Amino acid sequence: MRRKLVVGNWKMHGSRLANAELLAALLAARPFAADVAVCAPAVFLSEVAASLAASDIRWGAQDVSAHEQGAYTGELSAAMLQEVGCRYTLVGHSERRAYHAESDQLVAQKAQAALAKGVTPIVCVGETLAEREAGQTDAVVKRQLSAVIHQLAHCAAEMVVAYEPVWAIGTGRTASPEQAQAVHAVLRAQLQAATGRGDSMKILYGGSVKADNAATLFAQADIDGGLIGGASLKAADFIAICRAAQ
Ligand code: 13P
Repeated sequence: MRRKLVVGNWKMHGSRLANAELLAALLAARPFAADVAVCAPAVFLSEVAASLAASDIRWGAQDVSAHEQGAYTGELSAAMLQEVGCRYTLVGHSERRAYHAESDQLVAQKAQAALAKGVTPIVCVGETLAEREAGQTDAVVKRQLSAVIHQLAHCAAEMVVAYEPVWAIGTGRTASPEQAQAVHAVLRAQLQAATGRGDSMKILYGGSVKADNAATLFAQADIDGGLIGGASLKAADFIAICRAAQ
């Protein structure tokens, strides 16, 4: 039985005050039956780490450099994330693929850089609306995942995968539990074929997960939790989603 994981992706939101209030509420709501983590803007990670250090709630970054160190202005290395205690980092979020032109190959290299420092990459995959309507959903997510599987080779089973259909992100238009489950099953089969450990790997769903739809999504056989954007910024909503993951 896979333990569920709920991860909040704060994206470019938050402030010292807002973060402190959100984390205080989250800490007060424990214990959760699922593992819980928040991916905060990098500038806040040390403070988030200090707030959560004595708890079982984990924290992570939203991106990582593919490079180990060097003249890469503005980037953050996996070693830096490790040093501030990040358990996770997102890689290949669709907003980075779209606005920062991140290729499948770069995403794969980032995942490898994270794993090399013991930071678990949460590898995001997902199709656009045009790709779904053209019947390309499975092909797109398999291509995106395949690049990472190839790069990580024997370590591929260490990653977490997040299926985030681009058309469901921030739109209020959630994939139906059946639509999400169908893609998760495809991804799990791919992971199983590549690693032999697909049955123990976590595949999260992201895209307009809210307090009122989380339980049905998380009840699907291959959905192991969620990657939560907007609703992770509101304590009551995020707590309700964490509680929906049993
Ligand atoms: P929303 O939950 O706001 O749709 O965002 C999903 C997401 O992109 C999480 O990474």
